[in-house]
Amino acid sequence: MATATSYPDPVHIAVIGGTGLQHLPNFTHAATLTPTTPWGTPSSPIHILHHPSPSDPSTHIPIAFLSRHGVHHELAPHEVPARANIAALRKLGVRTIIAFSAVGSLQEEIKPRDFVIPDQVIDRTKGIRPFTFFEGGLVGHVGFADPFDEGLNKVVRKCGHSLEGDGVRLHDKGTLICMEGPQFSTRAESKMYRSWGGSVINMSCLPESKLAREAEISYVMICMSTDYDCWHTSEDVSVEMVMGNMKANSENARRFVGAVLDELSKEEHLELVSAKHLEGASRGAGGIT
Ligand code: ADE
Repeated sequence: MATATSYPDPVHIAVIGGTGLQHLPNFTHAATLTPTTPWGTPSSPIHILHHPSPSDPSTHIPIAFLSRHGVHHELAPHEVPARANIAALRKLGVRTIIAFSAVGSLQEEIKPRDFVIPDQVIDRTKGIRPFTFFEGGLVGHVGFADPFDEGLNKVVRKCGHSLEGDGVRLHDKGTLICMEGPQFSTRAESKMYRSWGGSVINMSCLPESKLAREAEISYVMICMSTDYDCWHTSEDVSVEMVMGNMKANSENARRFVGAVLDELSKEEHLELVSAKHLEGASRGAGGIT
Protein backbone atom coordinates (compact mmCIF):
# COMPACT_ATOMS: atom_id res chain seq x y z
CA MET A 1 0.00 0.00 0.00
CA ALA A 2 1.30 3.48 -0.92
CA THR A 3 2.34 5.82 1.89
CA ALA A 4 1.13 9.41 2.26
CA THR A 5 1.58 12.23 4.73
CA SER A 6 -2.09 13.01 5.33
CA TYR A 7 -5.51 11.34 5.34
CA PRO A 8 -8.61 12.79 3.62
CA ASP A 9 -10.99 12.43 6.62
CA PRO A 10 -10.38 13.64 10.19
CA VAL A 11 -9.23 10.84 12.50
CA HIS A 12 -10.46 11.45 16.07
CA ILE A 13 -9.14 8.39 17.92
CA ALA A 14 -5.56 7.15 18.18
CA VAL A 15 -3.91 4.21 19.89
CA ILE A 16 -0.27 4.53 20.94
CA GLY A 17 1.07 1.02 21.31
CA GLY A 18 3.93 0.30 23.66
CA THR A 19 6.19 -2.66 24.35
CA GLY A 20 4.34 -5.81 23.24
CA LEU A 21 1.57 -3.97 21.40
CA GLN A 22 3.32 -2.94 18.22
CA HIS A 23 0.32 -3.50 15.93
CA LEU A 24 -3.42 -4.24 16.01
CA PRO A 25 -3.87 -7.18 13.61
CA ASN A 26 -7.67 -7.50 13.74
CA PHE A 27 -8.45 -4.22 12.02
CA THR A 28 -8.70 -3.39 8.33
CA HIS A 29 -5.64 -1.48 7.23
CA ALA A 30 -6.57 1.61 5.16
CA ALA A 31 -3.41 3.72 4.85
CA THR A 32 0.15 4.16 6.06
CA LEU A 33 1.13 7.75 6.77
CA THR A 34 4.66 9.10 7.14
CA PRO A 35 4.17 12.71 8.22
CA THR A 36 6.85 15.14 9.38
CA THR A 37 6.34 17.87 11.96
CA PRO A 38 8.35 20.90 13.17
CA TRP A 39 9.51 18.52 15.97
CA GLY A 40 10.76 15.81 13.64
CA THR A 41 9.26 12.54 12.43
CA PRO A 42 7.12 10.30 14.65
CA SER A 43 8.38 7.05 16.19
CA SER A 44 6.80 4.96 13.45
CA PRO A 45 4.58 5.34 10.41
CA ILE A 46 0.99 6.03 11.46
CA HIS A 47 -1.38 3.30 10.32
CA ILE A 48 -4.97 4.24 9.64
CA LEU A 49 -7.24 1.33 10.52
CA HIS A 50 -10.91 1.07 9.66
CA HIS A 51 -13.30 0.12 12.42
CA PRO A 52 -16.85 -0.79 11.32
CA SER A 53 -19.31 1.74 12.71
CA PRO A 54 -21.56 0.02 15.32
CA SER A 55 -24.62 1.99 14.13
CA ASP A 56 -24.02 1.28 10.42
CA PRO A 57 -21.51 -1.50 9.64
CA SER A 58 -21.40 -0.42 5.98
CA THR A 59 -19.51 2.69 7.15
CA HIS A 60 -16.34 2.85 9.21
CA ILE A 61 -14.54 4.91 11.79
CA PRO A 62 -10.86 5.60 11.11
CA ILE A 63 -8.41 4.90 13.96
CA ALA A 64 -4.75 5.99 13.97
CA PHE A 65 -2.17 3.56 15.32
CA LEU A 66 1.38 4.60 16.27
CA SER A 67 4.07 2.36 17.72
CA ARG A 68 5.81 4.37 20.47
CA HIS A 69 9.10 2.49 20.41
CA GLY A 70 9.32 2.20 16.61
CA VAL A 71 8.41 -0.60 14.24
CA HIS A 72 11.26 -2.82 15.50
CA HIS A 73 11.29 -1.54 19.08
CA GLU A 74 14.42 0.45 18.30
CA LEU A 75 13.65 3.53 20.44
CA ALA A 76 14.40 3.49 24.17
CA PRO A 77 11.88 5.45 26.28
CA HIS A 78 14.16 8.54 26.50
CA GLU A 79 14.58 8.50 22.69
CA VAL A 80 10.87 8.55 21.82
CA PRO A 81 10.09 11.73 19.80
CA ALA A 82 7.00 12.48 21.89
CA ARG A 83 6.47 15.99 20.50
CA ALA A 84 6.54 14.73 16.91
CA ASN A 85 4.17 11.87 17.83
CA ILE A 86 1.58 14.12 19.47
CA ALA A 87 1.88 16.88 16.87
CA ALA A 88 1.47 14.41 13.99
CA LEU A 89 -1.62 12.84 15.59
CA ARG A 90 -3.15 16.24 16.34
CA LYS A 91 -2.61 17.33 12.75
CA LEU A 92 -4.66 14.30 11.63
CA GLY A 93 -7.50 15.53 13.85
CA VAL A 94 -6.91 13.22 16.82
CA ARG A 95 -8.69 14.34 20.02
CA THR A 96 -8.56 11.08 22.00
CA ILE A 97 -5.53 8.89 22.71
CA ILE A 98 -5.67 5.41 24.20
CA ALA A 99 -2.05 4.79 25.20
CA PHE A 100 -0.74 1.39 26.18
CA SER A 101 2.27 0.61 28.38
CA ALA A 102 4.05 -2.20 30.18
CA VAL A 103 4.58 -1.29 33.87
CA GLY A 104 6.27 -2.68 36.94
CA SER A 105 4.08 -3.29 39.97
CA LEU A 106 4.78 -1.49 43.26
CA GLN A 107 1.97 -3.23 45.15
CA GLU A 108 1.56 -6.89 46.11
CA GLU A 109 -2.06 -7.03 44.90
CA ILE A 110 -1.09 -5.87 41.39
CA LYS A 111 0.23 -9.13 40.04
CA PRO A 112 2.22 -9.58 36.82
CA ARG A 113 -0.22 -9.63 33.85
CA ASP A 114 -2.84 -7.56 35.72
CA PHE A 115 -4.10 -4.39 34.03
CA VAL A 116 -4.22 -1.01 35.79
CA ILE A 117 -5.95 2.20 34.70
CA PRO A 118 -3.98 4.92 36.49
CA ASP A 119 -5.68 8.12 37.62
CA GLN A 120 -2.54 9.93 38.78
CA VAL A 121 1.09 10.21 37.75
CA ILE A 122 4.31 11.33 39.45
CA ASP A 123 6.91 12.77 37.09
CA ARG A 124 10.46 11.46 37.60
CA THR A 125 11.58 12.48 34.08
CA LYS A 126 11.12 16.20 34.58
CA GLY A 127 13.47 18.46 32.72
CA ILE A 128 15.42 15.64 31.07
CA ARG A 129 13.28 14.94 27.99
CA PRO A 130 11.84 17.71 25.76
CA PHE A 131 8.52 18.09 27.57
CA THR A 132 6.53 21.02 26.15
CA PHE A 133 5.33 22.72 22.95
CA PHE A 134 5.36 26.02 24.81
CA GLU A 135 8.75 27.62 24.29
CA GLY A 136 10.55 29.99 21.95
CA GLY A 137 7.95 32.74 22.36
CA LEU A 138 4.87 30.48 22.47
CA VAL A 139 3.75 30.81 26.08
CA GLY A 140 1.05 28.57 27.52
CA HIS A 141 0.10 26.86 30.77
CA VAL A 142 -2.27 23.94 31.07
CA GLY A 143 -3.91 22.37 34.11
CA PHE A 144 -2.62 18.88 34.81
CA ALA A 145 -4.09 18.16 38.26
CA ASP A 146 -5.90 15.16 36.79
CA PRO A 147 -3.59 13.93 34.05
CA PHE A 148 -5.91 11.26 32.65
CA ASP A 149 -9.36 11.95 31.25
CA GLU A 150 -11.88 10.67 33.78
CA GLY A 151 -14.73 10.36 31.24
CA LEU A 152 -12.57 8.19 29.01
CA ASN A 153 -11.22 6.25 31.97
CA LYS A 154 -14.80 5.29 32.93
CA VAL A 155 -15.33 3.81 29.45
CA VAL A 156 -11.98 1.99 29.58
CA ARG A 157 -12.75 0.49 33.02
CA LYS A 158 -16.17 -0.72 31.84
CA CYS A 159 -14.55 -2.45 28.84
CA GLY A 160 -11.83 -4.02 30.99
CA HIS A 161 -14.36 -5.36 33.50
CA SER A 162 -16.44 -6.83 30.68
CA LEU A 163 -13.44 -9.07 29.85
CA GLU A 164 -12.83 -10.19 33.44
CA GLY A 165 -14.44 -13.61 32.97
CA ASP A 166 -11.99 -14.12 30.09
CA GLY A 167 -8.79 -13.89 32.10
CA VAL A 168 -8.40 -10.10 32.33
CA ARG A 169 -7.75 -8.78 35.86
CA LEU A 170 -8.24 -5.04 36.21
CA HIS A 171 -7.39 -2.44 38.88
CA ASP A 172 -9.58 0.63 38.44
CA LYS A 173 -7.10 3.26 39.57
CA GLY A 174 -3.61 3.86 40.80
CA THR A 175 -0.68 6.26 40.89
CA LEU A 176 1.80 5.72 38.09
CA ILE A 177 5.44 6.69 38.69
CA CYS A 178 7.07 7.65 35.39
CA MET A 179 10.85 7.33 35.73
CA GLU A 180 13.62 8.24 33.32
CA GLY A 181 15.37 4.93 32.60
CA PRO A 182 16.63 3.20 30.59
CA GLN A 183 18.07 1.55 33.71
CA PHE A 184 15.48 0.12 36.11
CA SER A 185 15.21 1.60 39.64
CA THR A 186 17.51 0.85 42.54
CA ARG A 187 15.95 -1.08 45.41
CA ALA A 188 16.03 2.10 47.55
CA GLU A 189 14.19 4.06 44.84
CA SER A 190 11.64 1.30 44.38
CA LYS A 191 10.91 1.30 48.13
CA MET A 192 10.71 5.11 48.13
CA TYR A 193 8.13 5.06 45.32
CA ARG A 194 6.06 2.64 47.39
CA SER A 195 6.27 5.01 50.36
CA TRP A 196 4.97 7.78 48.06
CA GLY A 197 1.87 5.71 47.32
CA GLY A 198 3.00 4.55 43.88
CA SER A 199 1.01 1.67 42.40
CA VAL A 200 2.93 1.01 39.19
CA ILE A 201 6.02 2.32 37.40
CA ASN A 202 6.99 2.87 33.76
CA MET A 203 9.21 5.05 31.56
CA SER A 204 6.68 6.10 28.91
CA CYS A 205 3.76 8.12 30.24
CA LEU A 206 5.67 11.40 30.29
CA PRO A 207 6.03 13.75 28.54
CA GLU A 208 3.49 12.05 26.24
CA SER A 209 0.45 12.74 28.45
CA LYS A 210 1.54 16.35 29.19
CA LEU A 211 2.00 17.08 25.49
CA ALA A 212 -1.41 15.56 24.75
CA ARG A 213 -2.96 17.93 27.29
CA GLU A 214 -1.15 20.90 25.73
CA ALA A 215 -2.57 19.81 22.35
CA GLU A 216 -6.09 19.53 23.87
CA ILE A 217 -6.23 15.78 23.34
CA SER A 218 -7.94 13.53 25.92
CA TYR A 219 -5.49 10.90 27.07
CA VAL A 220 -5.74 7.68 29.06
CA MET A 221 -3.22 4.92 29.64
CA ILE A 222 -3.94 1.19 29.85
CA CYS A 223 -1.08 -0.30 31.85
CA MET A 224 -0.17 -3.97 31.94
CA SER A 225 1.97 -5.18 34.82
CA THR A 226 4.94 -7.26 33.68
CA ASP A 227 6.97 -7.55 36.91
CA TYR A 228 7.16 -6.61 40.60
CA ASP A 229 10.06 -4.15 40.11
CA CYS A 230 12.85 -4.76 42.65
CA TRP A 231 11.22 -3.92 46.01
CA HIS A 232 9.66 -7.38 46.01
CA THR A 233 11.33 -10.49 47.36
CA SER A 234 10.67 -12.39 44.11
CA GLU A 235 13.14 -12.26 41.21
CA ASP A 236 14.40 -8.74 40.27
CA VAL A 237 12.96 -7.16 37.12
CA SER A 238 14.77 -7.85 33.84
CA VAL A 239 14.03 -7.14 30.18
CA GLU A 240 13.38 -10.86 29.60
CA MET A 241 10.78 -10.86 32.39
CA VAL A 242 9.02 -7.76 31.00
CA MET A 243 8.99 -9.12 27.44
CA GLY A 244 7.98 -12.64 28.53
CA ASN A 245 4.90 -11.51 30.47
CA MET A 246 3.99 -8.99 27.81
CA LYS A 247 4.11 -11.64 25.11
CA ALA A 248 2.16 -14.14 27.20
CA ASN A 249 -0.62 -11.60 27.78
CA SER A 250 -0.55 -9.75 24.47
CA GLU A 251 -3.75 -11.38 23.26
CA ASN A 252 -5.59 -10.01 26.31
CA ALA A 253 -4.01 -6.60 25.70
CA ARG A 254 -5.24 -6.59 22.11
CA ARG A 255 -8.72 -7.72 23.14
CA PHE A 256 -8.85 -4.99 25.78
CA VAL A 257 -7.83 -2.24 23.35
CA GLY A 258 -10.23 -3.68 20.74
CA ALA A 259 -13.13 -3.57 23.22
CA VAL A 260 -12.33 0.08 24.05
CA LEU A 261 -12.31 0.99 20.34
CA ASP A 262 -15.64 -0.85 19.83
CA GLU A 263 -17.18 1.13 22.64
CA LEU A 264 -15.71 4.51 21.68
CA SER A 265 -16.93 4.08 18.09
CA LYS A 266 -20.53 4.30 19.34
CA GLU A 267 -22.42 7.48 18.53
CA GLU A 268 -23.15 8.13 22.23
CA HIS A 269 -19.43 8.80 22.84
CA LEU A 270 -19.00 11.25 19.96
CA GLU A 271 -18.77 14.28 22.24
CA LEU A 272 -16.29 12.58 24.59
CA VAL A 273 -14.10 11.38 21.71
CA SER A 274 -14.00 14.80 20.09
CA ALA A 275 -12.73 16.26 23.40
CA LYS A 276 -15.13 19.21 23.36
CA HIS A 277 -14.48 19.62 27.10
CA LEU A 278 -10.81 20.38 26.44
CA GLU A 279 -11.35 23.07 23.83
CA GLY A 280 -9.61 26.25 24.91
CA ALA A 281 -7.75 24.46 27.73
CA SER A 282 -4.51 25.39 26.07
CA ARG A 283 -4.19 28.89 24.74
CA GLY A 284 -1.29 27.99 22.48
CA ALA A 285 -2.54 24.67 21.07
CA GLY A 286 -3.29 26.36 17.76
CA GLY A 287 0.46 26.66 17.37
CA ILE A 288 0.88 22.97 16.75
CA THR A 289 -2.14 22.19 14.60
N1 ADE B 1 8.28 -1.14 32.60
C1 ADE B 1 7.95 -2.42 32.89
N2 ADE B 1 8.44 -2.77 34.11
C2 ADE B 1 9.09 -1.68 34.59
C3 ADE B 1 9.78 -1.40 35.79
N3 ADE B 1 9.90 -2.31 36.76
N4 ADE B 1 10.32 -0.17 35.95
C4 ADE B 1 10.16 0.78 34.98
N5 ADE B 1 9.52 0.57 33.83
C5 ADE B 1 8.98 -0.64 33.63
